[in-house]
Amino acid sequence: MTGFTLAHFSDPHLGPLPAASWQDLANKRASGLFSWTRNRVKIHKPAVLKLLVEDLKAQSPDHITVTGDLVNISLPAEFKAAARWLETVGTPDNVTIIPGNHDAYVAMPWADSLACWAPYMLGSRAPGGPETLPQNGADFPFVRRVGSIALVGTSTAVPMPPFIAAGRLGAEQLCRLRDQLRYLGRDGLFRVVLIHHPPFGGGAYKRKSLLDAQDFQEVLADAGAELVLHGHTHVSGLARIQTPQGPIPVISVPSASAVAAGHKDPSRYHLYRISRSADSWRVEVDIRGLNTTQDAFVPQGSMALTIPLIVSKNVSVAGAAA
Ligand SMILES: [Fe+2]
Ligand SMILES: [Fe+2]
Repeated sequence: MTGFTLAHFSDPHLGPLPAASWQDLANKRASGLFSWTRNRVKIHKPAVLKLLVEDLKAQSPDHITVTGDLVNISLPAEFKAAARWLETVGTPDNVTIIPGNHDAYVAMPWADSLACWAPYMLGSRAPGGPETLPQNGADFPFVRRVGSIALVGTSTAVPMPPFIAAGRLGAEQLCRLRDQLRYLGRDGLFRVVLIHHPPFGGGAYKRKSLLDAQDFQEVLADAGAELVLHGHTHVSGLARIQTPQGPIPVISVPSASAVAAGHKDPSRYHLYRISRSADSWRVEVDIRGLNTTQDAFVPQGSMALTIPLIVSKNVSVAGAAA
């Protein structure tokens, strides 16, 4: 397999916000709406997002991934609007998404929220199992195989109290993630784990962090993965998770709709050109971002990663299809 191109962008934070009733706002959404009207509306621009999508589609990637925060305060009308917007990005065949914390801003019935985007989260729920649509928030992770690429979509999106933007995978999802990664490792696939929150400890940003990041790292150290893509931070980032098999790259992108503001980065997306040799994966990462006049996306650098090819033999996986 040569030249598979995977595109990644994140955190579109689609605007404008639809009208909301007083009942809609009698919860955490009230503080979210205040934050939107005071700050976020000046940062997240639909015109910037439109430029990104146009530029990305002109690059003709083989598949597109979006790592959450499609909406802002989880109003039912936001989910419907985001479903219409997703149709402008691509079809469920060539676009895979996962939710972020803003997509579970408050507890919502599945049918009025993430069910609107279910076709973009079609995948195997059990190792080697058939692809199915998610039925509820417990139906993660899912695996979508595209050639030699396996996209593993997780969810860290759980409702949190006001002013808390943390996320959690939970013990059950971590267990299934381990099984899925082990199973995919037997086939020597390029495993891309999609996760909204960065999989690192909280430090000064604990109220925004992944609460079980250490457990996630231990699963990856045990079961393996070739690449982790995330959003949430709204900045470009490159880090690594150390494992016995070698470091796993962990890469983030800024918000897809953002103009330059404060300590956050303006909009960017990445193109991962993935190819395989006899003993390793070669990944060329092209970075494209908003120019200073905010009217076009332009090349903003590139980097190359070489990742050892790992085929896990004799690994038993609970519940795996033969
Ligand atoms: Fe975000
Ligand atoms: Fe987020």
